[in-house]
Amino acid sequence: MKKIVISTGGGDAPGLNAVIYAVVMSAQARGWEVYGSRGGYKGLIDPQEMMPLTPKIVEDITSLGGTILGSTNKGNPFAMPVKNLAGEMQIVDISDLIMKNFNRMGFSCHIAVGGDGSLDIARRFYEEKGMPVVGVPKTIDNDLFATQLTFGFDTAVSTATEAIDKLHSTAKSHDRVMVVEVMGRESGWIALNSGISGGADVILIPEIPFDMDSVRQKIEDNELHGKHYAIVVVAEGATAKDSGVVCRDNQCEVGRQEVLLGGIGDWVAKEVRRITEKDTRSLVLGHLQRGGSPTTFDRLLALRFGAAAVRMVDEGLFGHMVALVNGEMQKVTLEEATRRRKKVDLNDDKILTAREIGICLGD
Ligand code: F6P
Repeated sequence: MKKIVISTGGGDAPGLNAVIYAVVMSAQARGWEVYGSRGGYKGLIDPQEMMPLTPKIVEDITSLGGTILGSTNKGNPFAMPVKNLAGEMQIVDISDLIMKNFNRMGFSCHIAVGGDGSLDIARRFYEEKGMPVVGVPKTIDNDLFATQLTFGFDTAVSTATEAIDKLHSTAKSHDRVMVVEVMGRESGWIALNSGISGGADVILIPEIPFDMDSVRQKIEDNELHGKHYAIVVVAEGATAKDSGVVCRDNQCEVGRQEVLLGGIGDWVAKEVRRITEKDTRSLVLGHLQRGGSPTTFDRLLALRFGAAAVRMVDEGLFGHMVALVNGEMQKVTLEEATRRRKKVDLNDDKILTAREIGICLGD
């Protein structure tokens, strides 16, 4: 008889509820109990934030976006922002308190569903505190190195592609350049996949620092060929040659694991307007990409990850993350999983495809 605690940490991604469903059902089949820690580790700080998860509770959640447990990207127990009595913000390490509560509540293991930030915290609990942990990879950014794909990515790409599709008609009607900023942090996967699928003229990704002159060239080529509009897809982490990442002012919140990216779309639009004198508009797709029901692909992947995580618990394979490798469920160590991020390989077939079908990549 095991008692599992599951948590969802970092930015939400479509498919989280499907993982929870699969964990609960697979554990129940083994006669085990599952509890959900709300808001990342909150349930292991305050027992009121711990919820029992039964088949009845999860029966209809697989198709729901978000996470029934809630999530946070400011909840690192090793560096938690807490207000002291004087009202000042202090960073404190509450990992020992969490470990104590984990043991006191009688948990046998923790299934941590998260991106690289949350999985790195899970790795530290395993390595430094001895918590038996199994990781499940989640992020719309698809930037986890050790797994071919993360759930949430396919849904985000579908949403972005649909938005780009819709921009064609308005861009064409007004002979405009439309600049769309998509998410993805330092990886260009969402921009590349949605840009190619949505028929973008230009795709700018963090892996290829861009030159505005090459963007101008592409827009002028369009004109020469009688196409008086253009769609430019920009990843939020893309940078112009010789410039830094555009980070929104005042948005580097206390305790946040990463800076909040954004603003490069506006910058590119202004530059396009200036150098081409074309009517140009920009929009940020933002959190639309994280919302809504997971695609069938993401649901299935999330369900497979959840079931595989419980299998790993059964086999005692702690300190590992479940990964998709060559289409199969495999295990990788949390250390390996969080060591580096997966960037777009410039020899990737999608990069070659983009170039061959005439998409400008800004270089
Ligand atoms: O990692 C997922 C992600 O959506 C990134 O693509 C984006 O940069 C970030 O999270 C946004 O974070 P927040 O939800 O805090 O605005």
